Amino acid sequence: MRTESSPTISRNDYQPYPYALPRVELTFDLDPACTRVYSRLHLERQSESPEPLVLNGEELALESVSLDGRRLAVSDYRLEDGRLTLFPEAARFVIELVSTCRPQENSTLMGLYVSGDHLFTQCEAEGFRRITWFPDRPDVMARYTVRLRADRARYPLLLSNGNLASNDELPDGRHEAVWEDPHPKPCYLFALVAGSFDCREQSLDKDGGGQALLQVYSDRGSNSKTAWALACLEHAVRWDERRFGLKLDLDRFMIVAARDFNMGAMENKGLNIFNSAYVLADKDTATDAAYRAIEAVIGHEYFHNWTGNRVTCRDWFQLSLKEGLTVFRDQEFSADMLAQGLTGTEARSARAVKRIDDVSTLRIAQFPEDAGPMAHPIRPESYQEIGNFYTATVYEKGAEVIRMQHTLLGEAGFQAGMAEYFRRHDGQAVTCDDFVSAMESVYTRLHPGKTLAVFRRWYSQAGTPRVTVEVSWDPAQQACNITLTQRNAPAGIEKLQDPPTAKPPLHIPFAIGLLTREGKPITLHHEGRQSDTALLELTEASHTWTFTGIPESPVVSLLRNFSAPVIVEYERPDTDLALLARHDADPFARWEAGQALASRQLLAMMKTGEAPSALFIDTWQALLLDADITDAYRARVLALPSDRELLEKTTPMDPLAAVRACRHLQSALGNRLTPYWMDVYRKTAADAQADYSPDPASAGRRALKNLALSYLMAAGHPDAAELARMQYDVASNMTDRMGALSCMLRYGASGVAIQVLDHFYQQWQHDPLVMDKWFALQATAPDATVETVRSLMLHPAFSLRNPNRARSVVFQFCMNNLQGIHGPGGYDYWAEQVLALDSLNPEIAARLARAFDSWSRYADAPREGMRAALEHVRGHAGLSRNVSEIVNKALK
Ligand code: PHE
Ligand code: ZN
Repeated sequence: MRTESSPTISRNDYQPYPYALPRVELTFDLDPACTRVYSRLHLERQSESPEPLVLNGEELALESVSLDGRRLAVSDYRLEDGRLTLFPEAARFVIELVSTCRPQENSTLMGLYVSGDHLFTQCEAEGFRRITWFPDRPDVMARYTVRLRADRARYPLLLSNGNLASNDELPDGRHEAVWEDPHPKPCYLFALVAGSFDCREQSLDKDGGGQALLQVYSDRGSNSKTAWALACLEHAVRWDERRFGLKLDLDRFMIVAARDFNMGAMENKGLNIFNSAYVLADKDTATDAAYRAIEAVIGHEYFHNWTGNRVTCRDWFQLSLKEGLTVFRDQEFSADMLAQGLTGTEARSARAVKRIDDVSTLRIAQFPEDAGPMAHPIRPESYQEIGNFYTATVYEKGAEVIRMQHTLLGEAGFQAGMAEYFRRHDGQAVTCDDFVSAMESVYTRLHPGKTLAVFRRWYSQAGTPRVTVEVSWDPAQQACNITLTQRNAPAGIEKLQDPPTAKPPLHIPFAIGLLTREGKPITLHHEGRQSDTALLELTEASHTWTFTGIPESPVVSLLRNFSAPVIVEYERPDTDLALLARHDADPFARWEAGQALASRQLLAMMKTGEAPSALFIDTWQALLLDADITDAYRARVLALPSDRELLEKTTPMDPLAAVRACRHLQSALGNRLTPYWMDVYRKTAADAQADYSPDPASAGRRALKNLALSYLMAAGHPDAAELARMQYDVASNMTDRMGALSCMLRYGASGVAIQVLDHFYQQWQHDPLVMDKWFALQATAPDATVETVRSLMLHPAFSLRNPNRARSVVFQFCMNNLQGIHGPGGYDYWAEQVLALDSLNPEIAARLARAFDSWSRYADAPREGMRAALEHVRGHAGLSRNVSEIVNKALK
C-alpha cells in the first residue's frame, strides 16, 4: 500500500524488452488457499552484451529460482518491491521459478481468484504478475504450454488457452489437463478456469474448411440461459468473416461466465471470461437491453481475437489501438444485426437507433471526462495506474476516431486499410501510429496528395473540439456559404499550465445536408459528387464552402450521423429545429434536432419555470403520429434528455433543478398529449402475451410501450397506475415487468411500489442478476436517500465484494441518483464507500472515486461538499495507487 506520489509512467520512456521469450511452460497445483506455480521461461537475449533480466511479481511468495537447471542462491538475484532481477550471462537460457499465491484471499479479482466454487484468472492489464514472476508487458509474446492439476471432484473442468493436449488421472483424487496454445501471445491474454460448470456447445464449419467447437460455460443449473450467448457468438463469427474477411483461427473457442468480475468481459485467447451479466439471458430474467448488451459484448470480445490478439499493443499507452478499434467493430456488428433483413430508409433508421444510443453514452460519459481532471488523449501520455485508463475516452472516443477514418476512407477503403494493417503487423505488438499509417497508405492512394498528418492529432489531443457554424444564402448567386470554425481549448490539466497549451486544428469530417423550408432535401454538388449529404473536411481553424444552385434560404442539417466527436455551436430559431425534427432525412440528425429543442425547453424551465412551448408540444405530437417511423426509432425521438445530460449543459451545475425540470417536462408532455400516449400504449401493449422474442421490432415495440407508460404515469393520469400494475401482473418477460415496476417506483404511489417490489423479491431472490436489478431499482428511486441505500447494504444478499452487487447499489446511487447523492449525507456516504471498496478492490474503488470528477463545475454548496469529501478520501492513509491517482488529479 502506498500513499502519495506513485511514480508516473510516460509514453516516451518506452524501451523494448531486452529478451525474447519464445516458450513458456507453466504448471499449476491449484488450490484455493495456496496455489503453487512452476514456471519455465525460455529466454533469448536481443542485445549484444549481457543485460539484467527484470521480472514483475506481486503478492507472490518466491520459493526457488534456477538458471539452466542450477538453483540460484539469494545473493544471485535481487528481489525488491515488485521486481525480481537476475543477471544471466548466456545469450539463451532457461529460468525456472517456483512461487505460490493465495486465490482465496484475493479480493482484487486480478490475477488468480475464487468466485463461487470456481477459480478464474484476470490478467489484463497487469494481473499476470500476481500469478507468477514474468515480464508482464504486452510486447513480450510467447507460446504457452499449461499443465493444470487439481482435485477432480472439486474442479472437474480445467481450462486454459488453446487446445487440450491431454487429460489424465493423478493419485489422491487429483487430475491433470495439459493445454497448448499454438498462437504466441502476451501474458495479459493468458487465462485458466477451474470448477464445475454446465456447458452448451455447437460445432461450426469454418470459413475455408475444418470445424471449430464453440462453447459457453456457466454455473451449474444455468444452461437454459446460455442459448442466446451461443447464438450471438455464432453471429459474431459469421459477421467478422463477411464484413471484415477475418476468420476464426482456433479449433475451439470458449466463453466462461463468472459471477465476480471487475469489467464486462475479457478476450483471453480462445478462452474468454465474462461477467455473467453479459452471458446469461432468458425471457423471464433478462430485459431487451440486456439481450442487446450481451450481443455487443460477445461480439466485442470475439472481434478482439484479431484486433487485440493477433495484432496486440506494444505498450499500454496504445490501449485504444485494440479498444477503440474493437468498440467500433462491435458497434457496427450491433448496427448490422439491428438492420438485418431491412433495406433503404428502414435499414438506415434501424442503424440510427444504435448510433443514437452510442452517442448518448459518449456524451454522458466521455464529454465530461474530456472536460474534467482526468482528461487525456485517446493515446494517453502518462499514467500512474493503467487500471485507471480503461476509460470512455480510450474506448468510446477511440471508437469515434476509428469511425472518422472509416468515414474518410469509405467502407471499401477502410477494409483495404484493415487488410494492409494485418498484412504489415499480424503477430506483432504495435502502436496506434502503425494503424493510422496502414490506413493512410490507402487514403493517399484514393486521394493523391492528401495525408492523415493532421488527423493524427486526434491521438495526442485531449478535449472535445467545438465547431461553430455560420450559414449565409446569397439570393443573387443562388449560393449558400457555410463556414466551419473549430476551437480546441485546453483540457483538464493543460488548463493549469502557464500559458495553457494552445492546440492546433484537427481533421474533422463534418457531414451536412440542406433542406428546403418545406423540409425537402436539396441535392448538393460537392467534390464532383451529387448527394443529399456532403462531407466537409475541416483541416484548418476555419474554412468556408460554397454550394451553388440553392434556390432558397435553406435549413441546414449539421453533423449528420454524428460524423465527428465534437460539440456544434450554432444559433438558430426553434422553428428550424422543429422542422428538422420532423423532416430531416438523416435519422440521427433528426433525433438530434428534437433533443436540441427539448434541451432548450428544459434549460428555459430551469431558469424561468417557463411552460413548454406550443411548438415543442406540436413537434412531439407530430412525432407520435408520424406513420413512417419504426417503434424503436420513435421511442428514441420521443424520449427526453436525461437529467444527467441536462446537468452537463448547465453552468454552474445545479443537480436538483435539472431533476425537477426533467420531471416537469415529462409530466407536461404526458398531460398535453394524453390521448396519443394512451393510443400508443394500447396499440403496443396489445401483443404483450405473444411469444417473447428479443428481435429488434418486438423490442422496439416494448420500448415504445414503456415510454408511453412513463409519460402517462408522470402526468398522473388516473388510469396509469392501474395499467402499470396490470402490465406487471401479466408480463411474460422481464422487459415488461421491469418497465412497469420502474414506472411505479419513479412516479407511482410508494405503498404500491413497495408491495410490488416485495413480490418481485419473492419471485427472483434465487437469481443474482435479477436481484441486481431489484437493488438498482431501489437505489435509483427518486425518494431513495442515504438511509435507503444503507439499509439495502444490510440486506443479507448484499456484498461489497461482488462488483455487480456493489455497482447495483453503491454506484447506482452515487452516479445515477442525482437527488440522492446530492441530498443529506450523500457525499459522506460516497467517501465512506470509496474507502471501504479500496481495501477490497482498488480498481472498483477508483471507478467510484471518479463520480466527483466534475465537482468544480457545481454551484457553491455542492461544490464545497464534494471537495471536502474528496479531501477526506485523499487524506486517508494507505490509499491504493488507483484511488490516489484519481483523487489527487481531481483536487489539483
Ligand atoms: N479488455 C477487456 C475488453 O475491453 C476489458 C478488460 C480490461 C477486462 C481489464 C478486464 C480487465 O474487452
Ligand atoms: Zn475490449
